Amino acid sequence: MESLALYIHWPFCLSKCPYCDFNSHVRPEIPQKRFISALRRELAWEAARLGSRRLGSIFFGGGTPSLMAPDGVAALIADARRYFAPADDLEITLEANPTSVELDRLAAFREAGVNRISMGVQSLEADALRLLGRQHDAASAIRALTLAREIFPRVSFDLIYARPEQTIAAWQAELCLALELASDHLSLYQLTIEPGTVFEGQYRRGEFVLPEGDLAAALYEATQESAAQYGLLPYEVSNYAQTGAESRHNLAYWRYSDYAGIGPGAHGRLTLGDKLIATRRHRAPEIWADRVERLGHGSTTEETLPPSEKAREMLLMGLRLSEGIDLGRFAARTGQTLLQSVDKAVLEAAIEAGYLEQSAHVLKTLPEGRIRLDALLGRLVR
Ligand SMILES: C[S@@+](CC[C@H](N)C(=O)[O-])C[C@H]1O[C@@H](n2cnc3c(N)ncnc32)[C@H](O)[C@@H]1O
Ligand code: SF4
Repeated sequence: MESLALYIHWPFCLSKCPYCDFNSHVRPEIPQKRFISALRRELAWEAARLGSRRLGSIFFGGGTPSLMAPDGVAALIADARRYFAPADDLEITLEANPTSVELDRLAAFREAGVNRISMGVQSLEADALRLLGRQHDAASAIRALTLAREIFPRVSFDLIYARPEQTIAAWQAELCLALELASDHLSLYQLTIEPGTVFEGQYRRGEFVLPEGDLAAALYEATQESAAQYGLLPYEVSNYAQTGAESRHNLAYWRYSDYAGIGPGAHGRLTLGDKLIATRRHRAPEIWADRVERLGHGSTTEETLPPSEKAREMLLMGLRLSEGIDLGRFAARTGQTLLQSVDKAVLEAAIEAGYLEQSAHVLKTLPEGRIRLDALLGRLVR
């Protein structure tokens, strides 16, 4: 069986960013002990039914997991190493925010076993950081990245572009500075307006406009060009890396491999016997913790995925990857062929238009298709 990826969700942040719809919450005081104990308990429960699978990666995501007590992170890593069969090159990533609270703890996270940091820089411009409601300024982001690179073998960071009124020239200048600071991996996201966020209300009321259509496409193209000059290639729509430096954990999602999700709101896809199960934990942190304390796990529903749903999910994920989808693996994983899973006329038209490419064994998205991927997938996938 393929190796397992383990996701651990920490649901707390210092403040809520106006664009963010992740399962993150602000509390006057973070209940560290309670949540670390509950995460450990839920991990034990999940591991008991999974057995000693090979473990390829652990990812502490959030929320802001750099607010976790480092000894809690160490305990969770030690548990996972004990329950599973860790790969020699087990990748252990932690998402960190570049505020001073967290900087003091970076060395302790390294000691806990974390070997990859993903830093939420978001922008290197003062006005943009204010607009995005961030708690750090550009100078502290640069300090944080410099320190992280001294401590961790692998460092990536996130930026958000296609922000209100952003021009191509301004983004190119900011990205150029970012590329100078980067090591071998960057996540570059176009700002999306998510339901229920502060930005959604402001956008609907016309308080700002976003680069859309041709301008958004031009920003995306400029991003790819600049990153390529630094040897960073888009292995996924928003993720750029030198060959070999891709995030192994995120590749597991996009390749539609098994992953376990621990913590409030976490999702999982797990092969149990001959079934693929979709797991989902309760989103509200305190309700999740209550359930774990009573039952050993905070699951809401668990659903066996039918072939059509597996095929749909694997297409939506795999076509984000530059490597595309291995069609033999697609049939084995989903129980359906490609032609049973897509609209044939749309597939043929997309190949003809140079958006997709199909060879004997692989279906993949070409650069022209990547720019319009969401619209394309909406029509292609049944
Ligand atoms: C779980 S969040 C971040 C982790 C960390 N708490 C932070 O903010 O730095 C993962 C990343 O998603 C991106 N993101 C979140 N909401 C977004 C949105 N509406 N549009 C584009 N990118 C977004 C941000 O770059 C963020 O760093
Ligand atoms: S972007 Fe990060 S810090 Fe901001 S609310 Fe979302 S998870 Fe928290």
